[in-house]
Amino acid sequence: MYMSGMCMWDMETTASQLAIVFYNKRIVYGLPLFLLDMSLSLSFGNHWSFRPNRGPTVCISQENCSIGLGKRQETKRQSEILEYDTGLNAIKTDSQKVKDYGLPPLVSALKASAEENAASFHFPGHNRGHAAPSSLRQLIGVRPFLHDLPELPELDNLFAPEGPILEAQKQAAELFGASETWFLVGGSTCGVQAAIMATCLPGDTLILPRNSHISAISAMILSGVLPKYIVPEYDHNWDIAGGITHLQVEKAIKELEMEGRKPAAVLVISPTYHGVCSNIGAIAELCHTHKIPIIVDEAHGAHFGFHHQLPISALAQGADLVVQSTHKVLCSLTQSSMLHMSGNLVDRERICWCLQTLQSSSPSYLLLASLDAARAHLSDSQETVFNKAVELTLEAKNIIKKIRGIAVLDLPNISNFPAIDPLRVTAGVWRLGLSGFEADDILCRDFKVVSELVGTRSITFAFNLGTKREHVLRLVSGLKYLSENFSASDNTENRAVDVVCSAPFNDISMSLSPREAFFAKKSKIGIEDSLGKICGELICPYPPGIPVLIPGEIITERALNYLLHVKSKGAIISGAADHLLSSLLVCHD
Ligand SMILES: Cc1ncc(COP(=O)(O)O)c(C=O)c1O
Repeated sequence: MYMSGMCMWDMETTASQLAIVFYNKRIVYGLPLFLLDMSLSLSFGNHWSFRPNRGPTVCISQENCSIGLGKRQETKRQSEILEYDTGLNAIKTDSQKVKDYGLPPLVSALKASAEENAASFHFPGHNRGHAAPSSLRQLIGVRPFLHDLPELPELDNLFAPEGPILEAQKQAAELFGASETWFLVGGSTCGVQAAIMATCLPGDTLILPRNSHISAISAMILSGVLPKYIVPEYDHNWDIAGGITHLQVEKAIKELEMEGRKPAAVLVISPTYHGVCSNIGAIAELCHTHKIPIIVDEAHGAHFGFHHQLPISALAQGADLVVQSTHKVLCSLTQSSMLHMSGNLVDRERICWCLQTLQSSSPSYLLLASLDAARAHLSDSQETVFNKAVELTLEAKNIIKKIRGIAVLDLPNISNFPAIDPLRVTAGVWRLGLSGFEADDILCRDFKVVSELVGTRSITFAFNLGTKREHVLRLVSGLKYLSENFSASDNTENRAVDVVCSAPFNDISMSLSPREAFFAKKSKIGIEDSLGKICGELICPYPPGIPVLIPGEIITERALNYLLHVKSKGAIISGAADHLLSSLLVCHD
């Protein structure tokens, strides 16, 4: 392939970029630029771009990978270019002129594109629903297929946004208080991974709580980052983990300093799955005095700040990178999330690069448009949107608290932390002599009440904008039924505490880094022979998705007891090759 062009980027940066190959403006494949540079003539100036004289169109730009179009596409683009008019919320094309749907930017663009009478010869193969599989079409109708479009010119490009995606992301940044926002199609999982990979280099140390989501562990495997864990507060009565404090972060920074190391970033999970919030303001202030970026996994807190009784958002408290699962409490489609940036400690180019590395090259526009729609849903009535949901939850909590034998997790239970999400209702059932799993089974089977999270001693219910009073009444009836039909004898009430053990977070011994262990030679051995060996897999009971053993750690008796206990209580063991736990994967020494 012959190429000519201009480049004003340093060679090191250049070699680390992917050349993105487009066909009909859709990314076809990417290949390392250094593979192309034999035929690429480079010169240094203010801009850079290059284009082949035949074959698929190739283009890169430093700023945002803007697309250089081949002749055919360029002509098309000039005659049919879509301009997004932010003031009008409208999409303009030469053929359409102005369409003002009064819809959010990306939703508008998707509607306009789907309404075109297009002869489509592009992916996906269901061809705008013409070949939609009938079983699914019967279930959801043809409209989702009609709008399941690829990266057409008028729909912008997630990795080089300059039209409706850019505008939608800007509006989200403004609403959430970020300097920049990226829409994600790989959930908060890819946001957490990108945030860690963009702030830490291989061999760097990341301070993070032990109860981090699995995505933080996979980020360390992908990047070669080393963990410095903070053991979160643990409430034995509830058998749940809380947040972390700025004093714990300070201690971790000092301990690293004594070893001559400085953390590249601090990751905090706030709120936790149970809604417990850490004091992000205090941790951010501490991190910033050391010029360390703070990443907040706010997967469960995208709604924070949108009601006076909801906790303050991490961005409002000074976090540098914040990842939110918009699909969890807010109303976008499953898998759609956002990554927000603030301040100047993080390099935005590295974020872009990591996101492009981690995400699909065919992002779903249904997911992207759902993020835009969820943002607009909030923007339209941000002062009042959560009034009803908060009111209903507080009402429900007050009733549930009064049911004999049922406890409700609230601030007094977690006194070291500044806030708890009022929309997360965790009901403790141990006084009924039931485990959370047993109680959950009854609620689900007999009342069709489906919870969000089950623990050994509690069940967590997620309230949201769609929660209906009728469903809350059903939940209350279910809990009353449990209360009337079960009671703890003296020895069953404390059954969970007696048998186990809290989660084995504080006696970790790491023999290999997560990445070294991930790639090490391994063998499967009986669980009875695994004590003292190096764990070769990530073992994580789900829920709540807190890893108990991470690749590279020595297998302890406490970890084994805990795993067997939660499994006997009904937890699903994820990550383990043998999820029945009769064997474990261990690394060769
Ligand atoms: C604390 C936390 N972070 C990150 C994630 C990943 O979020 P997603 O499901 O959007 O990938 C989860 C998922 O449950 C989570 O609980």
